[in-house]
Amino acid sequence: MNKAETFLVNSGPRRLLQRFYEAPLLARLGGRVPGGRVLEIGCGSGYGTRLILDRFGAAAVDAVDLDPGAVEAARGRLAGYGERVRLAVGSATDLRGALEAEDGVYDAVFDFAIIHHIEDWRAGLAEVARVLRPGGRFYFDEVTATALNRPTYRRLFDHPDEDRFTAGDFLAELPRHGLYADERWQTRIGGDYLLGVAERRGAGAVGRAARDRTG
Ligand SMILES: C[S@@+](CC[C@H](N)C(=O)[O-])C[C@H]1O[C@@H](n2cnc3c(N)ncnc32)[C@H](O)[C@@H]1O
Repeated sequence: MNKAETFLVNSGPRRLLQRFYEAPLLARLGGRVPGGRVLEIGCGSGYGTRLILDRFGAAAVDAVDLDPGAVEAARGRLAGYGERVRLAVGSATDLRGALEAEDGVYDAVFDFAIIHHIEDWRAGLAEVARVLRPGGRFYFDEVTATALNRPTYRRLFDHPDEDRFTAGDFLAELPRHGLYADERWQTRIGGDYLLGVAERRGAGAVGRAARDRTG
């Protein structure tokens, strides 16, 4: 993430938006996670982690980010939560390496604007699905190719150039990993932003989705 995006993501207006608009919308779409064991990918400086604990009611949050500086900032912000929070530097595409996360161990996974940073974003979704238990929920708040291809975004920020996803691409990919958003999603600003919640369904549902794709 370049300096301009780091500044914007950590700015007051963005925090207000995340707290009073994005998190309440996600809670309306997917409900809270009281007492849940939750993973946050790309936690940045930990502001979203705090929302997951305080607003969504998680009992414990494991959070991972590629950027050691961001994880250090998160450590400071979240120190008061003690053992309820576990932070790690590492990639959302290798949660075994970062957090020793086994299959199906989380009740929910949160993605506050990170998957569009991952070159192989499909691998990111596969890893989310792997660590969610059946019936667990994936909360996503994403920036799409529609936004990333706009001149302002191109000029100011730095994102993977290849294989960007539109809202439709992202929604179509979810069931390939056993993640089903059904009607629980919304786009904003002409498809620039996609927010939603997908449920992890069992291996039978994944098999059926694969058969549907191959006709
Ligand atoms: C746009 S920022 C969002 C940060 C935070 N979720 C928020 O909403 O404030 C994207 C974050 O994803 C992190 N990131 C990018 N690729 C990643 C990856 N493969 N695994 C984990 N984190 C990643 C970046 O370091 C950055 O902190």
